[in-house]
Amino acid sequence: MNTIFSGIQPSGTLTIGNYLGALRHFVPLQEDHQCYFCIVDEHAITVPQDRLKLRHNIRSLAALYIASGIDPGKSTLFIQSEVPAHTQLSWMMQSISYIGELERMTQFKDKSSGKDAISAGLLTYPPLMAADILLYNTNLVPVGEDQKQHLELTRNLAQRFNNKYNNIFTLPEISIPKVGARIMSLQDPSKKMSKSDENVKGFISMLDEPKKIEKKIKSAVTDSEGIVKYDKENKPGISNLLSIYSSCTGETVASLEEKYAAKGYGEFKQGLADAVISVLEPIQDKYYALLDSDELDDILDHGAEKAAQVANKTVAKAKKAMGLGRVKKKK
Ligand code: TYM
Repeated sequence: MNTIFSGIQPSGTLTIGNYLGALRHFVPLQEDHQCYFCIVDEHAITVPQDRLKLRHNIRSLAALYIASGIDPGKSTLFIQSEVPAHTQLSWMMQSISYIGELERMTQFKDKSSGKDAISAGLLTYPPLMAADILLYNTNLVPVGEDQKQHLELTRNLAQRFNNKYNNIFTLPEISIPKVGARIMSLQDPSKKMSKSDENVKGFISMLDEPKKIEKKIKSAVTDSEGIVKYDKENKPGISNLLSIYSSCTGETVASLEEKYAAKGYGEFKQGLADAVISVLEPIQDKYYALLDSDELDDILDHGAEKAAQVANKTVAKAKKAMGLGRVKKKK
């Protein structure tokens, strides 16, 4: 049995990219592993957030986790800021991180480029992520491809701590899906699909209505060739749509190419829209039933309590290893 940890930022409504690259893969892991799934709200405030929107997005993400199949009877689902151990260990992780290695993170470079006011939190985001993972003795972290560099840094920090202080941290492995690990924007297939994209036509939100999904897919950027074929270099738009299609239905890209061999992009896009809708519609139904329920609060209260029990023990070990606090004199 492995211990699994993964987190998602409540920085907007999840996209089909978050679902196909990460969330969907969490569900089967619950069957035979110890799983922790987190709403990482402290990561979200590293860029400006509207207070009320953030509150809503936190609750909405909790409901989406469950609607997508996370079973609170099997997994621990909780909000990061409700378990103070995350920021406590994060400070220790920051203290062993080098500014140079944090500045080299692509996410930091992307999110800070062209901005005047860059928060210190944006730079120290990866040590917080390392703390999230290391608190639970995690062996495996299921994520999309964009988190690979952060996972490598987490392993480096864990190893550095173990060598310098005491061997207390497990080095986590990363798990990236074969298809769907990097879903691209529908409007600019050279850019990752992102929930914080200003152009709403670039992403499909998990809560978009069927009509909207159809419209966004129909206006997705393709090419003038009219051939449904996977060629990431020369046909990035169609290749991205094929990945989404394959992830949604489980059909291989090759069989989809065959299915649409003599057909145009119009028919292909309609098939894709139907596939996406049939994945999202049942999730949306469950989501709306859960969002304002007391049950959701009970689940999150219980999750935070369970997570804190494990996390507090790790913080105590890390403090001891670093020499923080004191040993009480026996009377
Ligand atoms: P976040 O909130 O950006 O994304 C959540 C998950 O979705 C994946 N993902 C994608 N997968 C495929 N295609 C895309 N276009 C796409 N966009 C996002 C991400 O890889 C991620 O798995 N730093 C993390 C959150 C985090 C975390 C952690 C993750 C904080 N602490 C500890 C794992 C373990 C993030 O910003 O994810």
